[in-house]
Amino acid sequence: MAIARSFKMYLTIFIATTCFYMVLYQYHISKGNSVLPAEEIKPPLYIITPTYRRPEQLAELTRLGYTLKHVANLLWLVIEDANKTSDLVSKTLNRIGIPYEYLIAPMPEEYKKKNKAKPRGVSNRNRGLDWLRENATEGVFYFADDDNTYDISIFEQMRYTKKVSMWPVGLVTKLGISSPIIRNGKIDGFYDGWIGGRKYPVDMAGFAVNVKFLLERPKAKMPFKPGYEEDGFLKSLAPFNNTDIELLASECTEILTWHTQTKKNPPAQILNMTKFHHTNLVKLDVSLIRT
Ligand code: UGA
Ligand code: MN
Repeated sequence: MAIARSFKMYLTIFIATTCFYMVLYQYHISKGNSVLPAEEIKPPLYIITPTYRRPEQLAELTRLGYTLKHVANLLWLVIEDANKTSDLVSKTLNRIGIPYEYLIAPMPEEYKKKNKAKPRGVSNRNRGLDWLRENATEGVFYFADDDNTYDISIFEQMRYTKKVSMWPVGLVTKLGISSPIIRNGKIDGFYDGWIGGRKYPVDMAGFAVNVKFLLERPKAKMPFKPGYEEDGFLKSLAPFNNTDIELLASECTEILTWHTQTKKNPPAQILNMTKFHHTNLVKLDVSLIRT
């Protein structure tokens, strides 16, 4: 009897203690959620990345994706110049594990003609702008080609763009750099190896735009005009003045983005199935992009 009574007592104490800690825990959680740290309410960043099928594609997306993984509240809009999505790209994006949308936007046939400069990534970027118009209400967007190099600090800087922000890009043309020229704290022209009569001789990797600012300009888009994509797009955002442009990277004195270019690899040779059909090479071969 005495054993049963003391067992009952210990059980009551045990249950009471457990309940007490559970209530304490719930209180802790609810309190934690009600006061969000400032970091969690950062404006969203939309990164529009054109991509296309080639032997380097998965390597480029992997490198860029893991850079973006360091950035909070970001949605990666990966848009392929293709008529259908690719399982290999989907698999790569899932493996990286950041929020993304994978869309397609083929280059119109008329621009694919040989021996002529092509408007690379233009249909992709315009598809990204359409997506923003349908889905986004605030934040900032940026065109990040899949083959460039990005210091993650530029993402935190561009996140607060009110209209249009700009900064230098390394490895562009013979000058090795493309940048607004800053004199007495103001834009006094642009430094770029090829001006070509452009109002904004800047590189695609050197500017970001506020989403609301874009939404107020329903006609803004990128022209299919090789060499004039950035200029045409920025001009389509009128009206805005050079004095409205926010200068990032310590007033354009640091290089935080580079127009790197990857060596083109020839398509891999066909695997000899007779020789290797019972080996790992058969599975590996599935991950190769040959065209
Ligand atoms: C430079 C600029 O950095 C680009 O922003 C600009 O679009 C391009 O010049 C141009 O004026 O044509 P560049 O390094 O020469 O870029 O070009 P790529 O890196 O080959 O292409 C730019 C982007 O478009 C990449 O993200 C690439 O994946 C994509 N792309 C390229 C396509 O979607 N389709 C293509 O056929 C080729
Ligand atoms: Mn490039």
